[in-house]
Amino acid sequence: MPTKPLRSVVASVESRTKMRRRPVLAKQVEALARKYAAMETTGEPFGTVVIAEMGQKLKEKGKDIIFCAESIISTRTPDAVIEETQRNLREMAQGQEAPFLGLPELRRSICDRFQGLYGERVDWRDEVIVTSGSMQAEYYLMAALINPGDEVITPVPSFFFDIPVRLARGRCVYLRLQASDNYLHDERRFEKLITKKTKLITLCNPHNPTGRVLTSEELAGIAELAAKYDLFVMHDQVYERIVFDGRPYTPMVKFAREIGDRLISISSFSKLFNMINYRLGYAIGPPEVIRGMEMIQAFSSMGIPSLLQKGAVPALNRDFEDKHILATIARLQKARDYAAARLGGLEGLSMMKPEGTNLLLVDVSSFGMTSMEFCKYLLREAGVACAPGVAYHAEGHVRISMGSERSEEAIDKIATAIQKLKARGP
Ligand SMILES: Cc1ncc(COP(=O)(O)O)c(C=O)c1O
Repeated sequence: MPTKPLRSVVASVESRTKMRRRPVLAKQVEALARKYAAMETTGEPFGTVVIAEMGQKLKEKGKDIIFCAESIISTRTPDAVIEETQRNLREMAQGQEAPFLGLPELRRSICDRFQGLYGERVDWRDEVIVTSGSMQAEYYLMAALINPGDEVITPVPSFFFDIPVRLARGRCVYLRLQASDNYLHDERRFEKLITKKTKLITLCNPHNPTGRVLTSEELAGIAELAAKYDLFVMHDQVYERIVFDGRPYTPMVKFAREIGDRLISISSFSKLFNMINYRLGYAIGPPEVIRGMEMIQAFSSMGIPSLLQKGAVPALNRDFEDKHILATIARLQKARDYAAARLGGLEGLSMMKPEGTNLLLVDVSSFGMTSMEFCKYLLREAGVACAPGVAYHAEGHVRISMGSERSEEAIDKIATAIQKLKARGP
């Protein structure tokens, strides 16, 4: 075949580059990237990492910083998990890949645990998928369920369930929860937002960022709506069982009969078992939905490292989990009590005492600063990195993670910095 002379190739490339180029990114990704570029000022969509990174830089310069921005309960991965990973490392590293749905042994353990704790039988063969963290499960779910234009009702403040919805070209319809009624999930308010396009309701229980634990009545009300309007419910329970004052924890699966095959329960090893670096999460749901998620996994990540999945199995031993959870609750409840006593009385602040989780959401709107400005002030003045509420649809608030071993010290430093700000006046 005759080849084109080099000069004409160069000329045609030149003329093409002079033409207006088509946008590179897909619209929904472009919109996200634009927001991301302005994040240092606006705090949306993920100001938490901006503040954490600023804290890291200050630390590298020698400043003492306490990290309370990212929602980390602890980084101490249980010995049993590390030992199991080490013991199997050589064999797993050289063995076969796990199936797309996840390592059978881990899937069985996840289903046994679920049945043991919540009384609902789950078939490990087709009703569970292991993912790289629960965030990936949430992305897969939206990619598998949402058609362009489908509506998803998301109560806010909220963890960012809306981003995977938008990436799937769905539309998030926000339901603003009220601090005045303790962020009650009132089904009558949900019902008003339902249209023909509504496909899914997202729930987070225990709730990030408020620390609220949903009651059985609230869940029952939403389960009834799901049945009445044939809606899916995504129940993010990554903080499951981390509840204070002996209150009961009810997962949505208690209403499986009402919701039928429309419930997807999502959980994680990151929070409950201090395994943030394993990046392991999972979804439990009806076979048709799990199959859809498996398709996305097959043609994106092709599955999760089997050696990490193998290492995670001992975490799900019931005796181990019960002991581990009790210790976690005791530590976090103490931190919560300290924070509530220390910050609760400060002029200009208001907050709801968390009922669970490691999270505390404080209303600082009376200071007239954006939540990003407030977090930057706390970082400078107190040496504590906190998360800006704006990242969780809670502008005017600051979210403090109480998982740090220096949590009480962090709260003292925050309190002093706030008193200083108050004394300075408007
Ligand atoms: C409510 C909620 N869901 C999901 C995640 C994602 O966690 P991971 O992907 O580590 O499981 C987080 C992390 O902070 C969270 O708070």
